This record gives sequence, structure tokens and C-alpha cells, in this order.
Amino acid sequence: MRTFITGASSGLGRGLALHYASAGSTVGLCARRADLLAEVARDIEARGARALLYVADVEDTGAMAKNAADFVERAGGADLVVANAGMGIPDGIRKGEAEPIAHLMRVNVIGVTNTVVPFVPTMLAARSGVLAAVSSVAGLRGMPGRAAYSASKAAVITFMEALRMDLQGAGVHAMAICPGFVHTPMTAKLRKMPFVIDADAAVAQMASAIERRDDTFVFPWQVRLLGPVLRHSPEWVVRRFAPPSRAEEGAREELVRTSYSAFTSRPSACSGLTLAVRAATFAFNESSLALVRLASASASVVDVPRPLLKSSRCTR
Ligand SMILES: NC(=O)c1ccc[n+]([C@@H]2O[C@H](COP(=O)([O-])OP(=O)(O)OC[C@H]3O[C@@H](n4cnc5c(N)ncnc54)[C@H](OP(=O)(O)O)[C@@H]3O)[C@@H](O)[C@H]2O)c1
Repeated sequence: MRTFITGASSGLGRGLALHYASAGSTVGLCARRADLLAEVARDIEARGARALLYVADVEDTGAMAKNAADFVERAGGADLVVANAGMGIPDGIRKGEAEPIAHLMRVNVIGVTNTVVPFVPTMLAARSGVLAAVSSVAGLRGMPGRAAYSASKAAVITFMEALRMDLQGAGVHAMAICPGFVHTPMTAKLRKMPFVIDADAAVAQMASAIERRDDTFVFPWQVRLLGPVLRHSPEWVVRRFAPPSRAEEGAREELVRTSYSAFTSRPSACSGLTLAVRAATFAFNESSLALVRLASASASVVDVPRPLLKSSRCTR
């Protein structure tokens, strides 16, 4: 088996690289952090497989084309390509910051096309192969606080869907994989992750979907069941039940951090009082939001007044 994986230095990509490392197999590892790639390569070689290292940024179209050509030459072809490298960012839209979004799009969208497209001619000539791109459940529907990430992952699903139709009958399969929350370095700072699973379980499910040659694979099963509901629900439902965004989690962490450091460095009476008021406001808003969510879940036909929801959210 000859497998090329991007984002192989960490998380799901690292797990997949180890999964496909067995005696006689070749695994191409691509990411920017050379030291981490070297560690993964050592683990792969310990399993009797060959590791080929590509230290590269997936944004770089020319470099990725060269990496694909080198891999095909040294491995003698490619059976599986996994375009897994990806990133998330706190959403800076309200601050008017477009550059972080442009960067995310280059990594999450152009990075995928830079990875899979150069392998197409080789796979077509061999009339076999699987091109798999890692998207996300966030790509099934625009998610509040994750506009750029959702849009990038939706683009990946659509690109792979169209590519699959282009390659129909040629022996080459294109698919998208949409994980829900998985414990990896990318999600290490997120607190609320509904239906979260660990990386090993995720890798096992992703590999099974690749083996089955699924089209668009959504997991875990709870999210797969909720997927159609998520796609067709009115926006107020999505707004209310979407997990907190990175920005919301960041604001929460910042509050906890400043409160802690201020109290432990013998605060003045004034700053202590300020922090106590902020903490009480925070607790009040958190409980209000929880009540709003509970109420809307039990009486879903009644729309909760927007100002109440807004005031709970914007202070988080
Ligand atoms: N964890 C989740 O809950 C979850 C859910 C849905 C979808 N996903 C998707 O799953 C994929 C893997 O994420 P993960 O959770 O395993 O996160 P992770 O541990 O942070 O891994 C991300 C990987 O992408 C690589 N990468 C990032 N930017 C890159 C660039 N410009 N060029 C080359 N490589 C780059 C990183 O390597 P270097 O930093 O060394 O370059 C790293 O190996 C991503 O596409 C992510 O969007 C994850």
C-alpha cells in the first residue's frame, strides 16, 4: 500500500499515517514541522514500513506538485492520498480582519486541491486509487462564529463530490470525510464538544470509510443522524445549539485567567471588586443562556426574543 498524507505531524494525520504503516507499505508524510514528522517516521519504520518525508506548506502549489511527483517516483505509484492538513482560527470577522480568513482558505481549500490534483494523472493511468479529503461536520452547514472554517470545509465537500463525478468509471474514487469533534491538538482548548471521540476511534472510522469507498462520510454516528436535521433546520435553531466558537471559548479562558492572576497577586480592593462584579455577570449570563437553551429545547415552537439571546452571547 502506498499512502500520501498531509498534516501527518499531529492528530488525525499522524494517527492515519501509523494506521497505514505495515510491513512492505510506503507512507508519504507531509507537514511543516520537520521534527514531528521525523518522530512519526521513526514509529512508521519501527512497524516495518517505509516513510518518505515532505516538509512543506500545503499552500505552496509548486512544492506540492513536486512532492507528489517525487512520491510517485520513489513509491512506484499511489494507492491512497489523504488531504488532511487543516487549521481553525478564532473568527475575526467582527474586527474586520480578512487576512487570517484568506490564510485559512489557502490552507483548508487550496491545500486540499494542491494535494489531491497532482496525483490524478498517476491514478487515472493505473485505473485505481482513492483521493480522500478531510472536511468537517462544520462544512454541512454555516456555523455561527465559524464562518470561514465552515465555508472552507463546505468547499472541500463540494470539490470532492464534483471530482468523484468527473472520475466516475475511471477506477479512481474521490471522497470527503467529515469528522465531528475529535480530541486532537486542534481541539485541545475547546471545552464544550458534543459527541466528542478520541483520535484512535476517529482514525479507525476514517480508515473503514476509505476501505468502503464511501462518498461523504460523516461521523460519529450521533452527528451522522443529526446531519440532515442540521442541514435543514432554520437558522435560529443552528444559532442556539451550535457549540461555542473559538472566540467565545477564548473570551471565557481570558476571563478565568485574568481573574485568577489578579486575585493571586494581592489585588487592590477596587480591582478585586471589579473582578467580582465581572465574575458575577459572567455567571449570570452563563446561567441565562443555559436557561434559554433549555426553554427553547422543551418548547421549540416558541421563539425566544432575540435581544435576550444576544445579550447573553455578546458578553461571553
Ligand atoms: N479535531 C477535530 O475535532 C476535527 C473535526 C473536524 C475536522 N477536523 C479536520 O481534521 C484535520 C486534521 O485536524 P487535527 O484535529 O488532527 O488537527 P491538528 O492535530 O492540529 O493537525 C493539523 C495538521 O495539519 C498540518 N498543517 C496545518 N497547516 C498546514 C500547512 N499550511 N501546511 C502543511 N501542513 C499543515 C499540521 O502540521 P504542521 O503544523 O506541522 O504543518 C498538523 O499536522 C483538519 O483538516 C481539521 O480541520 C478536525
